[in-house]
Amino acid sequence: MQVPLLDLKAQYAAIKDEILAAVSDVLESQRCIGGPKVAELEKKIALICDCKFAVGVSSGTDAILNTLMSFDIGPGDEVITTPFTFFATTGCIARVGAKPVFVDIDPKTFNINPGLIEAVVTEKTKAIMPIHLFGQTADMDPVMEVAGRHNLYVIEDAAQSITSTYKGRKAGSIGTAGCFSFFPSKNLGGIGDGGMIVTNDEELHHRQFIMRNHGSEPKYYHKYVGGNFRLDPIQAVALLVKLTHLDEWSEARRQNAAYYNEAFKGTAIRTPYVDPNCVTIYNQYVIRIPHRDELFEHLKKNNIGCEIYYPVPMHLQECFGYLGYEEGDLPESEKAAKEVLALPIYPELTDEMQDYVAGVICSFLL
Ligand SMILES: Cc1ncc(COP(=O)(O)O)c(C=O)c1O
Repeated sequence: MQVPLLDLKAQYAAIKDEILAAVSDVLESQRCIGGPKVAELEKKIALICDCKFAVGVSSGTDAILNTLMSFDIGPGDEVITTPFTFFATTGCIARVGAKPVFVDIDPKTFNINPGLIEAVVTEKTKAIMPIHLFGQTADMDPVMEVAGRHNLYVIEDAAQSITSTYKGRKAGSIGTAGCFSFFPSKNLGGIGDGGMIVTNDEELHHRQFIMRNHGSEPKYYHKYVGGNFRLDPIQAVALLVKLTHLDEWSEARRQNAAYYNEAFKGTAIRTPYVDPNCVTIYNQYVIRIPHRDELFEHLKKNNIGCEIYYPVPMHLQECFGYLGYEEGDLPESEKAAKEVLALPIYPELTDEMQDYVAGVICSFLL
C-alpha cells in the first residue's frame, strides 16, 4: 500500500467541476487582478475569523511582511518569536531589518512558552509574534498580558491554524493582527500561493490594504514604500470553493487524529497534546519519538509519507548565525527538532490507509 503525507489529487477530484467553473469565470472575465472575488473572499475570511477586516495577499509570508511594514518595524527594532517554525516567520523579521529575538517553546504544544517572554523584552522590542503551530493556537492570554504591560504589537502567525480556537476565540482575532497562508498543504489551501491578514484595527487594516499595492493611495501617489502583495482572483475563486468544505475537512482531520491517538496508546509514541483551551485543526499530526530517524526510514521503506517539521530550529540556521545563538540556547526547540515526525492526517485518508500506517508503526516499536 502507498500512503502519501498529503493527497491533493484526492481533494481535487471531489471539487474539480466547481473549481474549473470558477476559474473559467475569471478567465472569461479577464479580471485577472483584484476585483469582486478577492473582496468576497476577504469578507468571508474576516467573518469566519471573527474579525472586522481582512486583506488578501500573495502568500502567508507576505501577510507577515506586509504587517511588519505596516507597523513600520525595521532597523533598531526587536521582534520576539520562537525558533521552532517554518522559516517565513523569522525571515520576514530579518528582511525588514529588525532583530529576531527567540524564546523557547512549550515542549507539549510546540508553541511559545509565555513565561519566557518578559525576560527578553527590551526598550527596542516592538512586537511579539506567536506561531500557532500545526493547527493549535498558542497560549494567548499570558502573551497578551506581557504585550499589554509593555505596549507591544502582537502579530499572530496563524498560517497553519485557520478557524482553530483559543478559549472560544478564533486564531488571528486575539492579537493586533493575524496572518494566514493558503499554501496548498494548509487546511484551506489555494491552487498556488496566497495569504490573508485579519485585524479589528481599522487604521492598521487601511495601511495593510495600501501596503499590498506598493503603498499607493490614490493610484500613482505613494504614501508608503509597499510592495506587490496582491492576491490573484484565480486563487480567490478556488479558495471560495474550498472554504465551503473547510469545517468538514478539519473535522475529518480531527477524526483521523483520534484514530491514531487510540492506536498509539501505551506505546513509546507521544501523540499530539491538545490544550483543553484549544480546538485544533490538525494541519499536521506530529508525534514525538526518541528514535525518530529510524522510524522515518522505516516509514519511507513501507511507502508511507512522513516529514520532519522542522529539522533545524531558526536560531541554528546558517543565515541567522549573525544573531549569535549557539546550540543549547533553546533546548526545547532543539530537542523537538530531533524527535518530531508528521504523519498523514489529510481528510481523504481511508480507514485502510490509517490501519496500515498504525500497523507499520506499531510493529516497528515491538
Ligand atoms: C508557520 C508558518 N508561517 C508562515 C508561512 C508562510 O506561508 P506561505 O508559504 O504561504 O508564504 C507558513 C507556510 O508555509 C507557515 O507554516
